[in-house]
Amino acid sequence: MSNIQKIKGVADLFPPESDKFAFMERTAREVFSRYGYNEVRIPIMEKTELFARSIGEETDVVQKEMYTFPDRKGRSLTLRPEATAGLMRAFIENKLYAAQNVSKLFTFGPMFRYERPQKGRMRQFHQLDVEMIGANEPQADAELLLMLYTYLRGLGLRQLSFEINSLGCRNCRPGHRQALVDFFAGLNRDELCDDCRRRVDTNPLRVLDCKVERCRELTANAPKITDHLCDDCRTSFEVILGILDAMKVEYVHNPRLVRGLDYYVGLTFEVTSTDIGAQTAVAGGGRYDGLISQLGGPDVPATGFAIGMERLALLLGDLEHPGVDFYVAVLDDSCATPALSLAQELRSAGLTGEAAFGAGSLKSRLRAANKVGARWCLLMGGNELAAGEVTVKDLAGGEQERVALSSVREYIESRK
Ligand code: HAM
Repeated sequence: MSNIQKIKGVADLFPPESDKFAFMERTAREVFSRYGYNEVRIPIMEKTELFARSIGEETDVVQKEMYTFPDRKGRSLTLRPEATAGLMRAFIENKLYAAQNVSKLFTFGPMFRYERPQKGRMRQFHQLDVEMIGANEPQADAELLLMLYTYLRGLGLRQLSFEINSLGCRNCRPGHRQALVDFFAGLNRDELCDDCRRRVDTNPLRVLDCKVERCRELTANAPKITDHLCDDCRTSFEVILGILDAMKVEYVHNPRLVRGLDYYVGLTFEVTSTDIGAQTAVAGGGRYDGLISQLGGPDVPATGFAIGMERLALLLGDLEHPGVDFYVAVLDDSCATPALSLAQELRSAGLTGEAAFGAGSLKSRLRAANKVGARWCLLMGGNELAAGEVTVKDLAGGEQERVALSSVREYIESRK
């Protein structure tokens, strides 16, 4: 019978790759909690309507990339393509706004987008998602960016570029939209790609985000949102940039950065790297005031970002897989159960290690001890057992010594 293989665009992760994910999660918990964020967990399935209403009917994500299916009762469900929509649904449904003025939340887990898989682009990928709900001050956006910066540096990553823009608000955006429509009216539409020809009418801003070279050339001189910002948006943007300058966080103002999801207003940003192939965005986010009320909640402002963990993993060097403290080598069958007891006692004391389940030759057992990365091999044969002892072999230094069973823990701990 043929074996069953995984589906396209998903991955099985083993060490050292899975160690990188654990490292990203551990560092996130450490760094984000210092800024007052709480970890939450939300479902990976939601009603399809949630994504259509938040991400936007006209976006690639909703139009082409969602895993949508009817459940057994015929209700349309979708595997989440991102976490913001679900988090806002949960925020509203659980009335988190009643408990606190500002909610700082983060979560991580798998997301699903039906895209053409390539390096750094998966159909099941993982995001580390951060949302700050309830604050509309530019200092809140600045703090969010500083936290992202601190997190990435905490992982040892320094060669990343921060691209920043402001998309304006409902007051200044219509003016820019009209300027774009006028600009596109002067272009030969047939020269644009199929998607952009449609976007010119449905969502002209998104034309600026097109990756097709010809579209980029044609729109090189398109009106910039920066020239249309209202006073409030301009001041907020300047405050944010001023804080980044003062904190010596390097960034590039990219007036073409518009992002692929429709809910953004004001600040938008992406963290990019040229070291991960064609997919350059490691993280992306921005402010999305208005989304919560659009989903039926109160009018509460919010800002956030998500990091693509697979892309971040591509940038992390191989981490050293941690070894263990001990390996109990069983040299005689009579020692199998005592070896297990010894291992159990040592683990209860906080040491890490393994015990062989049955007897084997000295050579094969030493090989096994090296394989699990043990520092000490505890040799247990009939002689040792009769004397109530083990032979402790230091696999780093090579020396060995007979030690009473009752003192093994102390012996290891004093030499760690
Ligand atoms: P996004 O830009 O669509 O934003 O995704 C954020 C990050 O997820 C990207 O920068 C990328 O690293 C990663 N990513 C996206 N698609 C894939 C894929 N197919 N394979 C691998 N990685 C991928 C959002 O999702 C927003 N919800 C971010 C946000 C949170 N905005 C405000 N709050």
